[in-house]
Amino acid sequence: MAADPLSAGLLGGLEPTVELAPGLLLARSFFDAPAQRRLAADVAQAAQAAPFFRPRMPCSGKPFSVLMTNCGELGWISDESGYRYEPRHPATGASFPPIPALALSAWRALAGAAPAPQACLVNYYDAGARMGLHRDADEGDFLAPVVSISLGDDALFRYGGANRSDRTKSVRLRSGDVVVLGGPSRLAFHGIDRIYPATSGLLPQGGRLNLTLRRVSPPP
Ligand code: SIN
Ligand code: FE2
Repeated sequence: MAADPLSAGLLGGLEPTVELAPGLLLARSFFDAPAQRRLAADVAQAAQAAPFFRPRMPCSGKPFSVLMTNCGELGWISDESGYRYEPRHPATGASFPPIPALALSAWRALAGAAPAPQACLVNYYDAGARMGLHRDADEGDFLAPVVSISLGDDALFRYGGANRSDRTKSVRLRSGDVVVLGGPSRLAFHGIDRIYPATSGLLPQGGRLNLTLRRVSPPP
């Protein structure tokens, strides 16, 4: 076992965590450059076992602009049948690879006393991809926060309140930043308006990766 990345000094504390709204935290530069490279390499390796696929909207079947894959015991899937968690990759039928250790470190550092995450959704944004305003509400437990890691190109993150019509604000997320949606913001609307192409050299192909860690079922 490698040393715990927290005690190895790879993580956290580079910039103070800011509270964007009650329960909505931004840990700027949570991952330093070496940790970002390691985590991006872990994702690339996971994607060999669990290839990126293009999700489709429920009912309409309209393709998402992002590509997705998952790590962990459960993966988030969207297609004509709806949004849901599944234990197997929709194309290969295999279980998903384990959640990368560095991603779990972010959960341990930022998710408080929440039990371990069961799902790690991985979104890949190319220069033109975006993510419409939505809530993460397919879980059976909203006590645990959602922990969301940015790698690669900058992105404009929009966040609001519990209602779609609530006023929204935006913040530019950079590689290594981690956002936590917890407490009163666990079900806040959020999305990605745009990617800023070629703002990071982390990913050889350019673009942005987002890793979203979630608890899916209530603790045992
Ligand atoms: C998401 O909410 O699914 C993704 C958020 C992000 O890409 O930062
Ligand atoms: Fe989300």
